Amino acid sequence: MRRTSACVSSLAIHIILLASSIPFTLSQPSFQWKDGKSDLVDQICKKTPFFDLCSSILHSNPLSPKTDLKGVALLMVNNILANASDTLSYIEGQIKQTSDRQLEQALAFCAESYIPVVKYILPQAADAISQSRFGFASYCISDAVKEVSTCDKKFSSFSQSPLGDRNDIVQKLVDVASSIIKLLLKG
Ligand SMILES: *[C@@H]1O[C@H](CO)[C@@H](O)[C@H](O)[C@H]1NC(C)=O
Repeated sequence: MRRTSACVSSLAIHIILLASSIPFTLSQPSFQWKDGKSDLVDQICKKTPFFDLCSSILHSNPLSPKTDLKGVALLMVNNILANASDTLSYIEGQIKQTSDRQLEQALAFCAESYIPVVKYILPQAADAISQSRFGFASYCISDAVKEVSTCDKKFSSFSQSPLGDRNDIVQKLVDVASSIIKLLLKG
């Protein structure tokens, strides 16, 4: 049996994390604009493992002058949600097309990883960020990391991933979001 997503299913842990995130909600993140818009983006993206990816996403989404680190984190999570939703549709399309049993099974396994990511984990992470519950957001993001890597491992016996670099991109996006949420946690 597959493990269920902890971000979604574990109410007890949810409550513990909720309680532990209270100190974070009381302190405002100290990250500030230094010298205008592009600098905030650069400052943030430099703290993530994929500067170019981070910066291209943030530069292609016009930030309002009032956007703060929390707004940037939200934007990044919503970007992952769009990207992961597209990957899920792609997987579902591939399942319909293939006549290869082994491939079909691997794809179906991946759809099972992506469904909770798209339907619950990322929306929960976005809600948590909106409510300044950064500890729980971080917890959900690490769940998304696990799900995507579980899917990715299914293709280790294939010479080439049938998803191309889609998993890789989603993994990188999640790493970027995770770093931004860590900045929020540091406050
Ligand atoms: C997913 O992210 C990659 C990298 O930013 C981008 O090239 C691609 O267009 C995105 N796909 C969707 C559907 O957002």
